Amino acid sequence: MNQVETIVDLRSFVRQARRAGKRIGFVPTMGYLHDGHLKLVEAARQQCDFVVMSIFVNPLQFGPNEDFNRYPRDIERDRKHAEAVGVDLLFTPSVEEMYPHEVLTTVSVAHVSQPLCGRTRPGHFDGVATVVSKLFQIVQPDAAFFGQKDAQQLAVIQQLVKDLSIPVDIVPCPTVREPDGLAMSSRNVYLTEEERSQATVLYRSLQQAEQLLAAGERQAAVIQDQLTRTIAAESLAQIEYVEVMHYPHLKEATELVVGDQILIALAVRFGRTRLIDNLITTVK
Ligand code: PAF
Repeated sequence: MNQVETIVDLRSFVRQARRAGKRIGFVPTMGYLHDGHLKLVEAARQQCDFVVMSIFVNPLQFGPNEDFNRYPRDIERDRKHAEAVGVDLLFTPSVEEMYPHEVLTTVSVAHVSQPLCGRTRPGHFDGVATVVSKLFQIVQPDAAFFGQKDAQQLAVIQQLVKDLSIPVDIVPCPTVREPDGLAMSSRNVYLTEEERSQATVLYRSLQQAEQLLAAGERQAAVIQDQLTRTIAAESLAQIEYVEVMHYPHLKEATELVVGDQILIALAVRFGRTRLIDNLITTVK
């Protein structure tokens, strides 16, 4: 595995791979890799011949009171993991390399960026859309791999690629969970023991949603209400949102009908840690 820190070096390696006729797969990350990221690499290896991973904690997508400074970082550990799972090229640019001047161009995807996390994290998805557009320009991959745990981010990126005719296949990959159901996230390391144990309620409530749908529940408000009660029963859980929406357009859902593709999305704080999780399913 090669590791590069500059855009010039990255382009030179990717150019060589492309000249050799290789299909370029791209896994953008903010590092502190866990099995969820490694599964994205696995999928990329299956579909591509040359896998690029970026590790860049993007300041544009953090609000002023968010965890940019304390976001976990360990490049040495990440390098070993990336190499072990077969990344060919690791791109670890500095903030100065990515943003050498004041950024005057922002990519903003209307509508899908607004609900859910967009409401409590204003500007977050503009930061994501801007850095992902820039990374796509730098790497020019044939395919890029994103986890469904960040379902709204995925919807934003799918819309972005469609609107701007960016020639990259966006490949959604299933959420990877701990044995007790907690969705893997770099932020899980912030949780205290008690918070970690109560945090399993996110997955439990999504299972409850599946059961309600299977039993024929079609009122979004009922599903929302039941999940809210389940989560609120955990003493440390502070609910930010529990929502049922049409997916991927992220329009509010009320009465569900067979064939609807829906997203049941949760954001819950445990102490200083904000967790998200979701279920994407088709109403049967
Ligand atoms: O999902 C993430 O880790 C980030 O939002 C991404 C896509 C790498 C952009 O910074």
